[in-house]
Amino acid sequence: MSGSLEDTARTAARKPLLQAVRGEVAARPPVWIMRQAGRYLPEYREVREKAGDFLSLCYSPEFAAEVTLQPLRRFDLDAAILFADILLVPDALGQHVAFEKGEGPVLDPVTSADAIGRLSVDGIDKTLGPVYETVERVKAALPPEKTMIGFCGAPWTVATYMVAGRGTSDQAPARLLALSEPETFGRLIDMIVEASAHYLIRQFKAGADVVQIFESWALNIDEAFFARWIVEPTRRVIDTVRAEIPDAPIIGFPRGAGPLIPGYIKATGVNAVGLDYAVPLEFARREISPLACVQGNLDPLRVVAGGKQMLERTDEILSAFEGSPHIFNLGHGIVPQTPIAHVEALIEHVKGR
Ligand code: CP3
Repeated sequence: MSGSLEDTARTAARKPLLQAVRGEVAARPPVWIMRQAGRYLPEYREVREKAGDFLSLCYSPEFAAEVTLQPLRRFDLDAAILFADILLVPDALGQHVAFEKGEGPVLDPVTSADAIGRLSVDGIDKTLGPVYETVERVKAALPPEKTMIGFCGAPWTVATYMVAGRGTSDQAPARLLALSEPETFGRLIDMIVEASAHYLIRQFKAGADVVQIFESWALNIDEAFFARWIVEPTRRVIDTVRAEIPDAPIIGFPRGAGPLIPGYIKATGVNAVGLDYAVPLEFARREISPLACVQGNLDPLRVVAGGKQMLERTDEILSAFEGSPHIFNLGHGIVPQTPIAHVEALIEHVKGR
């Protein structure tokens, strides 16, 4: 047993990003970019074309591992993030999911107790098996100093897509169901909690070093709703994962949660927290940084525009978290129109400062 613990410690010692999640301070913060594998890379578009549709790419271990590794060949990134999607979980639960060109995800909306009753956690590994194989392949190909990041959507965010059947700007369909039929909605959340915890455990067992829980829609809701439908389900996912994998390193990304972030960290037990770009640096330094490693938080459009404003804002972020555990990232996913040269300049700047 002690041998394997030492092995774990040695592995951790060689991975700057994992060390930061665990609370260590580096001279230069490790870097990764949300949606780092994606349409702004021509080599991604090429593999995506070969794979056919988006879900086929996610479920092909060969292609998914390839696109996971692509951004690390171009840029000096400290981590690879599994190429998959948060909506693979609803697909595995039995809800029909499709990605239509130019439209984003389309699902058969689940809005009644009957529809929820037709979903099941039992068979999810049949669908998700290829994803675990992708993790294994990437882990085997990754240099030891690089961190392998797995992920899932947080239960609330996944539920917003399951209930509405698509992306929405205000999440009204899920909010209304949660407020008018909390027991029915709770059954859906329970199912997503169970599936997500299992999914993360399997990703850790396949080789993930860290996982990130994407709560992309931690906005448009009041604080009582936040406590019940964001904090509680996330805490249950994390408790279930840590019952199986003690000390599992976990990053939460509660996008839009602002002043609720300190409470989210304390109640869920995340080791690190992704900040969206609207979180003020002074607030983050004072109220968030003492509680967890922060991952912040450049506006992705600053990378599209590039140049001086991008580097100046990057310096402000780096300075705000100097001396505390920090991972440099964007405040949301990189967008398809981002020039590759701007990404190069950004990463060189963070690494070479
Ligand atoms: O590089 C990575 O970050 C890993 C892969 C990854 C994808 N999606 C690939 C993807 C990750 C971590 C996600 C997470 C995800 N998926 C989130 C949470 C993060 C966020 O952006 O808030 C959400 C909400 C989704 C659901 C989703 N997937 C939507 C709404 C869309 C359509 C919008 C879009 O950007 O096209 C997707 C599609 C998707 N997921 C793409 C990629 C690379 C683009 C699909 C394509 O290649 O055509």
